Amino acid sequence: MHGVNQLNIFPIMVKKSIAALVLLFCVVATYAQTPFKQIIVQTKDADLVFRVYGNGRVYQTYFGKKLRNTDEYKALPINRKEIYVTAGMEDLFQPAIKVTHTDGNPSLVLQYVSDKQDKQGNITETSIELKDPKYPVSVVMHYQAYEQENIIKAWTEIKNDEKGAISLVNYASSILHFDATKYFLTQYHGDHASEMKEQESELTSGIKVIDSKLGARAAKYQAPMFMLSLNKQADETSGEVIAATLAWTGNFQFQFELDELNSLRVISGINPYASEYHLAQGKTFTTPALIYTYSTTGKGQASRNMHTWARNYGVLDGKLPRTTLLNNWEATYFNFNEEVLVNLFDGANKLGVGLFLLDDGWFGNKYPRDNDKAGLGDWEENKTRLPHNIEYLVKQAEAKGIKFGIWIEPEMVNPKSELYEKHPDWILKLPNRDENYQRNQLILDLTNPKVQDYVYGIVDNMMTKNPGIAYIKWDCNRTMSNTYSPYLKDKQSHLFVDYTLCLYKVLDRIRAKYPHLPIMLCSGGGGRSDYGAMKYFTEFWPSDNTDPLERIYIQWGYSNFFPANTISNHITSWNKQTSLKFRTDVAMMGRLGYDLDVKKMTEAEIKFSHGAVDLYKRLSPVIWQGDLYRLISPYEANRAVLMFVNEGKDKAVLFNYVLNKRFREVFTKVKLQGLDPQKQYKVQEVNLNEGAKATVPESGKTYSGDYLMNVGISQPAGNALQQSSNVIEIVAL
Ligand code: DGJ
Repeated sequence: MHGVNQLNIFPIMVKKSIAALVLLFCVVATYAQTPFKQIIVQTKDADLVFRVYGNGRVYQTYFGKKLRNTDEYKALPINRKEIYVTAGMEDLFQPAIKVTHTDGNPSLVLQYVSDKQDKQGNITETSIELKDPKYPVSVVMHYQAYEQENIIKAWTEIKNDEKGAISLVNYASSILHFDATKYFLTQYHGDHASEMKEQESELTSGIKVIDSKLGARAAKYQAPMFMLSLNKQADETSGEVIAATLAWTGNFQFQFELDELNSLRVISGINPYASEYHLAQGKTFTTPALIYTYSTTGKGQASRNMHTWARNYGVLDGKLPRTTLLNNWEATYFNFNEEVLVNLFDGANKLGVGLFLLDDGWFGNKYPRDNDKAGLGDWEENKTRLPHNIEYLVKQAEAKGIKFGIWIEPEMVNPKSELYEKHPDWILKLPNRDENYQRNQLILDLTNPKVQDYVYGIVDNMMTKNPGIAYIKWDCNRTMSNTYSPYLKDKQSHLFVDYTLCLYKVLDRIRAKYPHLPIMLCSGGGGRSDYGAMKYFTEFWPSDNTDPLERIYIQWGYSNFFPANTISNHITSWNKQTSLKFRTDVAMMGRLGYDLDVKKMTEAEIKFSHGAVDLYKRLSPVIWQGDLYRLISPYEANRAVLMFVNEGKDKAVLFNYVLNKRFREVFTKVKLQGLDPQKQYKVQEVNLNEGAKATVPESGKTYSGDYLMNVGISQPAGNALQQSSNVIEIVAL
């Protein structure tokens, strides 16, 4: 059978090869006459290379490890990997852009016009302008290369100079082409309270799509990020891997198309679903950016590249310290008044945290916010609960030596609210259909400038009246279903895109007036977690699930893309059967806070917690700003081990979490990473319960970095219990 097949295939293969040679000859002959034009987007370790060919079109010729001799890029072969594949012409795979012109022509050709590079310190921006030879539509591809962080930020501008509106059907941010023997995709998915689960699969021929059609709470099921390993599965320390994330707080789409030549194209951008965009004459559409990095040393380095970039550029005040806090949500839910709150402030003091965060339930008078059924949208203090207003709470907090923060959900409205009664036309809802509620609420029509003013005013009025407010939690508890914008009228297909753009407009205004006010991004947990939003926010709430066991996986997932200072972790009463120490150690791997009733804690628990907060003050600069090394994955073992190392490699913190322990299970030594082999380090187990002895035999001793990285330390030692943990401080002598 085998032989027969080969015989049958042989003549076809010969014919195909001859055809390919003829084609190649023609192409080379044409291209030989045109001047050579190559454009290199360079980071420290990786380059992205494009070339202009004789047909005037631009092709990606390379993306990978920087060659020692970049002159050799010139030798790269001709291929069909166009920089921004257009629909309607000869490329019959997935397009990056699909345009319908004013005359109905559904095709686009993009030819090179010009390119420029502008270097400002660490950042070099390359812009490549392309234009259709027959229609006045142009595209500018932007690539911002962050040299030291090895990050490329890529986005696209589409300009229409036709006499009338063109229709953008697809308008990706980026397309990247790869050639490898195999491709392994890691995606991050979940649901409310089970966010960011890692899932890895080998790509097969055809198209794999990861997307969101959820609108406001876009990342609820799928997160806008992925890792792609080439040739073999990458691990933390080895393998060729691309980590990428779309900076967009709305519907996104990643397409991975593996073609008949085993080439992969990855198209990333706004989800075109229900989002045909009509671009008027003279207007430019700017896509969100895809932020990506390339590593030849596995996922760990890819994450560190993302983290460094995020702290330096991607997150608001990424280099500034965060505050520790006590939140009242899980302690009281909606059941509180002024007196209860002021008493809770004492709890914050007992724990030693810096801020009290008042959650949902403080507003609404005609329709008091006694539960989630009413009051959303009416942002005046509830007179019964807070007779002396927020002002009093801020003063009381200040008197007790802590700061005060407050929860809002400014994009939303309960039908049982004065806002709904006064402005039914400010709300996204379909005509002639029943209203569709999630958590008894609807979404405001942010595309309407009056609504934008209103949402901005929620923050501005509150801050003007209470300049002492030191922190905001910005929540968003529903997706966009059954939506229709009364404001957009016949432009309903703009809704998903414009909603996000208008959210950014409001946030721009807030940030213009309050540039450094810490604001936590929350969306019923991690329903919003992307770098489009994070340039306005200092941190985000990864999940409503604060069970420490679950949190290890959730925080692990987010750690692939976000630095620890952006991940808010609260110690709560969820899974209270686990020790307070375990819950505390888990929260410490990000921005630590509490969300529990301190009055219900024992003296010993309070003492332990105060000690932990003090310790965290010492460790947090390393956790927030250090390099993260994920040493043992909870997906691969019954434990999770990770460590942070500061830039000078003289301070490190290691967290070890035992998730489960089988009978006689042996946990072998863990080899550390990121230390200086030449340095001597003192190893000390910290955050122990009062009177408890260190469980790690290396604790209290000194070792070289070389020893710690090649021999390792016992983690955990002896008979560790399931759901137990150790924190190890490692300091150079
Ligand atoms: C959802 C958030 O995730 C919770 O932390 C809390 O703020 C509630 N909303 C309040 O309604």
